[in-house]
Amino acid sequence: MNYRLLILPGDGIGPEVVAEATKVIATLQRKHNFPVELAHGLIGGAAIDAHGSPLPDETLAKARNSDAILMGAVGGPKWDTLPREIRPERGLLKIRSELGLYANLRPCLCFDELAEASTLKAEVLRGLDLLIVRELTGGIYYGQPRGIATEVINGVGVRVGFNTERYSEPEIERILHSAFIYARLRRREVCSVDKANVLESSQLWREVAERVHKTYPDVKLSHLYVDNAAMQLVRAPKQFDVIVTGNLFGDILSDIGAQLTGSIGMLPSASLDATGRGLYEPVHGSAPDIAGKHIANPLATILSLAMLLRYSLKRPDLADPVETAVKGALAAGLRTKDIARPGERAASTSEMGNAVIERL
Ligand code: IPM
Ligand code: MG
Repeated sequence: MNYRLLILPGDGIGPEVVAEATKVIATLQRKHNFPVELAHGLIGGAAIDAHGSPLPDETLAKARNSDAILMGAVGGPKWDTLPREIRPERGLLKIRSELGLYANLRPCLCFDELAEASTLKAEVLRGLDLLIVRELTGGIYYGQPRGIATEVINGVGVRVGFNTERYSEPEIERILHSAFIYARLRRREVCSVDKANVLESSQLWREVAERVHKTYPDVKLSHLYVDNAAMQLVRAPKQFDVIVTGNLFGDILSDIGAQLTGSIGMLPSASLDATGRGLYEPVHGSAPDIAGKHIANPLATILSLAMLLRYSLKRPDLADPVETAVKGALAAGLRTKDIARPGERAASTSEMGNAVIERL
């Protein structure tokens, strides 16, 4: 039986970095007997241009029919003025919620070779290995009511923009279970991040976290307010093992996490449903400013493919060599522009991809 993979290149640098990951898939097929059938689909701006919708029904149907999805990135200035409902990002938010991909795993791993590449001090980062578990299908991203309305205040009509942060107990429970389960595969420490000093949704979050923790007495649970967590992440990130948090806080903290790894071009992610089916994408987004210049770093996408092999296809025997090949390319001195030090020669997107493939 072949694995069914759906490839969604998307916009901006998405197609460039996905092309390199696709070369890795082809190499695995050839050299490691990886039985896979590939389908391709449109999402984001590319889908808007072709079909007028950021997530065409055809793409969603293909997604439902696949074991796992590898995505590039969505969005770009070309579509920024469209109404919210048909913007590229909407396609991503919809596929996450339609497929129930509530558990977003963002591992922040600082490769030794790149400790110097970050703007933070190398000694703060060397050996960093933390996992952000972000709730992905709830919270203020999806909460109702939302909108922009005109209200009469002091006799004058003013426009008001509003969104709703809300979490139900089952939503909090299932993401906390994920965090504890992944912590058991690591150093057994979970830090739950909220804003319980201000928000009721966070008060409930903290209460439920304590309750779920009772099932995992072998794992340590701590809590931090999100402002403090942001500070601790740049001050002493190695204190963390697993961070679990809601959708919006996780979005923000994971960009900090990306910078801790040396470059946002290095950070992969997995978005999983309850059965382990998932969508895998680099955290960096579509980077329209460098699209088409062949300088994007394909490693976050290649590492996302490694996560796909590990988590959805349960093939650590294939994930391990991909990750080792990435380390090998870095150890050999290859650096795309985002991770090159001043004066160092920058490899192109495909040079970096080829360096990984050669080592497979
Ligand atoms: C991310 C991105 C998305 C998000 C955008 C593109 C909708 O920033 O995956 O972190 O906010 O979730
Ligand atoms: Mg983000």
